[in-house]
Amino acid sequence: MSADYHVHGTVAVITLNNPPVNGLGLETRTAAVQGMRRALADDAVKAIVITGAGKAFSGGADIREFNSPKALAEPSLHSLIRTVEDSTKPVVAAIHSVAMGGGLELALGCNYRVATPGAQIALPEVKLGLLPGAGGTQRLPRVLGLEPALNMIVSGAPVMSEKLAGTGLFDAVFGADDNVLEKAIAFANSVADVRPLPKVRDRKVDYPNHEAFLQFSRNTVKAMSGPFPAPLECVETVAASITKKFEDGLAFERDRFIALMQTTESKALRHAFFSERMTSKVPDLAADTPVRTINKAAVIGAGTMGGGIAMNFANAGIPVTIVEMKQEALDKGLATIRKNYENTLKKGKLTQQKFEQRVALITGALDYAAIADADIVVEAVFEDMGVKETVFKKLDEVMKQGAILASNTSTLDVDKIAAFTSRPQDVIGTHFFSPANVMKLLEIVRGAKTGKDVLATALALSKKLKKTGVVSGVCDGFIGNRMIEQYSRQAGFLLEEGCLPEQVDKAVEKFGFAMGPFRMGDLAGNDIGWYIRKRRYVESPEITYSKTADLLCEMGRFGQKTGGGWYDYKAGDRKAYPNEAVNAMIVQHSADLGIERRKISDQEIVERLVYALVNEGAHILEEGIALRASDIDMVYLTGYGFPLHRGGPMFYADTVGLPNVLGAMERMARGRHGDAWKPAPLLVKLAAEGKGFNG
Ligand code: NAI
Repeated sequence: MSADYHVHGTVAVITLNNPPVNGLGLETRTAAVQGMRRALADDAVKAIVITGAGKAFSGGADIREFNSPKALAEPSLHSLIRTVEDSTKPVVAAIHSVAMGGGLELALGCNYRVATPGAQIALPEVKLGLLPGAGGTQRLPRVLGLEPALNMIVSGAPVMSEKLAGTGLFDAVFGADDNVLEKAIAFANSVADVRPLPKVRDRKVDYPNHEAFLQFSRNTVKAMSGPFPAPLECVETVAASITKKFEDGLAFERDRFIALMQTTESKALRHAFFSERMTSKVPDLAADTPVRTINKAAVIGAGTMGGGIAMNFANAGIPVTIVEMKQEALDKGLATIRKNYENTLKKGKLTQQKFEQRVALITGALDYAAIADADIVVEAVFEDMGVKETVFKKLDEVMKQGAILASNTSTLDVDKIAAFTSRPQDVIGTHFFSPANVMKLLEIVRGAKTGKDVLATALALSKKLKKTGVVSGVCDGFIGNRMIEQYSRQAGFLLEEGCLPEQVDKAVEKFGFAMGPFRMGDLAGNDIGWYIRKRRYVESPEITYSKTADLLCEMGRFGQKTGGGWYDYKAGDRKAYPNEAVNAMIVQHSADLGIERRKISDQEIVERLVYALVNEGAHILEEGIALRASDIDMVYLTGYGFPLHRGGPMFYADTVGLPNVLGAMERMARGRHGDAWKPAPLLVKLAAEGKGFNG
């Protein structure tokens, strides 16, 4: 049973009991319906209270039931709500802590609702590309009014119960120290004889000139929801609460809900939601793997990454010391951090008190002795094995036993780095993304000898730092950068064959990427790739690259930091302006190679860039570098601006159909640099089996 039943005097209490948040799974729904029947059959019972055990009234649908037949099995949430609403005895919802989604919809089916302050009230379905499908769009406007209900449903944002006191949603909001159940039972007793029973469905939504308001809402919501259909569908179903009879509105809501369930956009959002939860699950880590305590952190290097990484620790309340080689570099790094926090303060996103707390948590040092007792040290010095060797040997010498030695390297071999120390079990890669204080992704690179407790600690730390921690095996570039390399190579080849940077960027941005490859290169600095390619020309001469990016760097155009790269930039303006000399260089390079430039379609651009990611992703999956396809999707959604509505590269390939992806790759294999299109065996296998990467 996942709902309890008790009788207090003449009041029956049904307590939803399905930890952690009383999700309305099949067992809970069944038990709640049985509780209702029992209460209705018992002549001694005059009124009924529905409440939730533990940390919530109810968080809504049981997400463990998503995609399972149980979600649709009877009694459905509709049937439960119908049973409650048709009750011949008054039903009171006693709300505390959380009433969200289906939980709030259930409460709206009750005759009365009472709450404690501080409870989060929301219909968040829109965040999964859906709309409230159990009457929420029809009942909430009937208690709150058209405008506030529409705002809550379209945004999905939670509102605190005390802010809704005095609205038709709540019949009473008690004091913070009140026992909600005791108060609710007293309330139920006080209304036990009131007839007729008040029902939300019998109310009417009044709004003067509602058509004008609805049209305004359609226009605004359409402009703000980008590729996602759900917000506008929310407006349409809420509109039905005023334009249709209750039952017709419910039927309309159900239709629109089912239609949204089928959209790729909702599937992508649900995929991202579940994938995020999966990232922390590592098959060989037991739930009770010990986690080391992190009370004190250190960072080596106060450059671009070191500063941002230190801010992450401070933001989580963990004191952190940054070690630099020279006072000047240290001062510069600390000043940049301070300026960063000052900007947040100026924007009003940080209180003065928090600003001071955070700044005070970050200290600088020139001597490693200052960090010897840190629980974790993250190295963020130059990307050079020699420098890493010096640093890790030093860390091995000075750090206390049990400290975690982490490297922020973006491409270097973490096993080699670990071998510089006498404690490889304590070494791990923590690959932050730039700007490190902003980007959500943290690649956690598990070395061959990394201890399980060290991995578990890094995963727990990623949560504490509010990052999406994705585990990667050791390889050049790990998951994200190894894939982006194939994407960048294709972008370069496209320039040789007939594109200019602007066309490539526009096509990719139209597909939904936050930024095309060339604007991205200008932002990150084209010299980084140049440096990496120079290493590859020596280490892996078999890999081919377009020389255009090297020629660009030879022109001194490293990107925004040098005033221009693939494009020109103007002060105070983030727009990219095509540069004639760069474009002439590109055209000349094609001529030098004897290539006759051709017109390339936007579709070809997108296919070449995205399928390059997919094919490398398939290799990464096959080699076990990534634990699962959805981890690769999370890397791309949280670290590389892959369009959320497409669910990540592997999910996107599944929606296109792997045989179609393979077909396009076979076509591309007949073009220039066709050898880049040798399909990964896993891709061929899954396509033949009619499967997708995500099952
Ligand atoms: P950076 O050049 O901005 O900063 C490196 C800092 O380390 C400099 O301030 C330097 O003075 C200091 N340093 C060098 N040797 C040191 C030593 N022995 N002891 C103490 N400090 C020392 O470099 P950036 O961009 O911050 O990169 C650092 C690491 O992060 C590299 O491994 C890089 O591959 C990685 N990374 C960089 C990203 C980026 O977008 N810049 C993204 C993700 C990772």
